[in-house]
Amino acid sequence: MTTTATAASRCRAIRAMSTDRGGHGASDALFARAQRVIPGGVNSPVRAFRAVGGTPRFIARAEGPYLWDADGKRYIDYIGSWGPMILGHGHPAVLEAVQRAARDGLSFGAPTEREVELAEEILKLVPSVEQIRLVSSGTEAAMSAIRLARGATGRAKLIKFEGCYHGHADALLVKAGSGLATHGHPTSAGVPPEVVQHTIVLEYNNVEQLDEAFALQGSEIACVIVEPIAGNMNFVRASLPFMQRLRELCTAHGALLIFDEVMTGFRVALGGAQSLFAQALPGFVPDMSVFGKVIGGGMPLAAFGASRRIMENLAPLGPVYQAGTLSGNPVATACGLATLREIQRPGFFDTLAGNTRALVAGLLGAARDAGVPMCGDSLGGMFGFFFTRSVEDMLPQNYGEVMATDKERFNAFFHAMLDRGVYFAPALYEAGFVSAAHGEAEIAATHAAAREALADVAAFAAQAGEERRP
Ligand SMILES: Cc1ncc(COP(=O)(O)O)c(C=O)c1O
Repeated sequence: MTTTATAASRCRAIRAMSTDRGGHGASDALFARAQRVIPGGVNSPVRAFRAVGGTPRFIARAEGPYLWDADGKRYIDYIGSWGPMILGHGHPAVLEAVQRAARDGLSFGAPTEREVELAEEILKLVPSVEQIRLVSSGTEAAMSAIRLARGATGRAKLIKFEGCYHGHADALLVKAGSGLATHGHPTSAGVPPEVVQHTIVLEYNNVEQLDEAFALQGSEIACVIVEPIAGNMNFVRASLPFMQRLRELCTAHGALLIFDEVMTGFRVALGGAQSLFAQALPGFVPDMSVFGKVIGGGMPLAAFGASRRIMENLAPLGPVYQAGTLSGNPVATACGLATLREIQRPGFFDTLAGNTRALVAGLLGAARDAGVPMCGDSLGGMFGFFFTRSVEDMLPQNYGEVMATDKERFNAFFHAMLDRGVYFAPALYEAGFVSAAHGEAEIAATHAAAREALADVAAFAAQAGEERRP
């Protein structure tokens, strides 16, 4: 048997042993039906469970920290729609704001007072941003921010980091070339190599590569876009020396530093990841910021912002074109505003961060007790955990290290938890999210499920080890 086949059969065996309470026949039927009319049965690839195998659960409804699938089974939700649901599902203040806004009209294609209010609210919480433009998705926001950076600097090149995701604009679907002087390669069919010729891909947290790239091409670099805490390779913090050097190099070479805070904004702290870097590195600010997820509270809304000097390059004031039929949609802005107001309540982030830390600490404790090597980390309401190869392994610092962690154990754990009613993200390279609706009861239930699940994972790992012995 090949290693992959062995791994797959071990995962299947672990899944077979776990107690799937309730089954998922309705999701199976819906998935079969969906695959006839929607490519892969899903409208965004990670939802298809390809990384972990099995049938994606079709969700029927949600409330507080819980989801219910089409079979009526309840799950504790640690995905939170991939980040937006920081208040949990169906928060009364948010629902009321959305219902009231919907009654007044779904879309006007004309300016509204609420867009101004939302912009003012974001600016109040993020001092580096003097003006902001609202759009409908994180992809659109990151793509527009890069166009603006290129227009404002008159340069073409951009730097991104391996493992960071900034949406699916052509120029960003790139993996590193063979060396710093070579072009990156498209990671998607349909992206011509010429389209990514200006994209330089570097390793996250690698100061030497940064120095080298700026030394080689500094005068041509329009911008560097970075997830300040990477949530698209599980959960990896940018180190302080890396961030400090990045800031210095951008300033020295006239390149704009773009913080993609689509995931971290209003999630790791009220002022986003940039407020945490400013605490550690006094005076630190990015030049531009991209937001999404929490600022829409679960509705399609995202934004990009910067100083007035940079933003005035945008149409209708300046030569950089950007537009959107549904930008600043009245219902989405109502949802976002209500969400941003709730997260400003005193103590909100202290409680959220405390619960998230407790969640991760309990998972790590359960893993230790089961003899399964695991490490994890969190900030605010965002977290990650990794099945490492040995107990000595530290938290991964870049994409290569994340992908070297134990995918087989992650997948087995994912399914064992799903069967026990705990819904973590279905891929080892995704971050997790805790909401204000998750309380002690949900966290304790998660720990109890994890103790059972990790015992299964450990037992099968030991058995597989025995079988491999001659
Ligand atoms: C950091 C980051 N930037 C951009 C995006 C793209 O956002 P959207 O999916 O709304 O297009 C995502 C999506 O997960 C993200 O995590």
